[in-house]
Amino acid sequence: MSDRIIAPSILAADFARLGEQVSDVITAGADWIHFDVMDNHYVPNLTCGPMICKSLRDYGIKAPIDVHLMITPVDELIKPFAKAGANSISFHPNATPDYQKTMDLIASQGCQVGIVLNPAEGLDILSELENKIDLLLLMSVNPGFGGQKFMSEVLSKARQAREIIDQWHKIPRLQIDGGVNLENIKDIYAAGVDTVVAGSTIFKSPPAEFGKVIAQLRQG
Ligand code: DX5
Ligand code: ZN
Repeated sequence: MSDRIIAPSILAADFARLGEQVSDVITAGADWIHFDVMDNHYVPNLTCGPMICKSLRDYGIKAPIDVHLMITPVDELIKPFAKAGANSISFHPNATPDYQKTMDLIASQGCQVGIVLNPAEGLDILSELENKIDLLLLMSVNPGFGGQKFMSEVLSKARQAREIIDQWHKIPRLQIDGGVNLENIKDIYAAGVDTVVAGSTIFKSPPAEFGKVIAQLRQG
């Protein structure tokens, strides 16, 4: 349980008070900040870029920033995000012409490398990723919006992914993103997930309860 990582997604935060909200969840016990980047092209929604990531660093946020790119093309924004203070950068392999090259580019910038799989995507790609990634992110909603319903089909996929990655020499973190709440979190851990993204469940709670909600999410 101590190895579990809770990463609040900024997508559900109040963007007019982003620095304060991020600082509040970190003080309340969150481990990473999940930074959702949408381009109105790969997904039908638009969020924020490296400038806002840097603003969080300038505001004094020291916690790891976990960038989730839902954009195409991908490569052009890797260096800007690394420079803006990203610690990990995850992307969707079908959003870039050569995902191995994109992975190398992320690693060359000193960031952890993450691959994201949409709910409908299978695990075949894992055979090409062995020992090359730091994070395997399984989407439990179709990317684009916060506050969607958790797709429980992803739990069997997580179980299979866990079996596969446990055979690897370098075992990536297994992360889940979308619709995570206090009702499904137990099943999520039981499926082998160790890294949890939660937007609405955390940020739609009153700030005074961030600590309690994060502790409950960690507990499972
Ligand atoms: C969806 C994003 C998620 C989402 C999580 O495209 O990648 O990070 O914002 O938010 P909740 O937890 O509200 O589903
Ligand atoms: Zn995300």
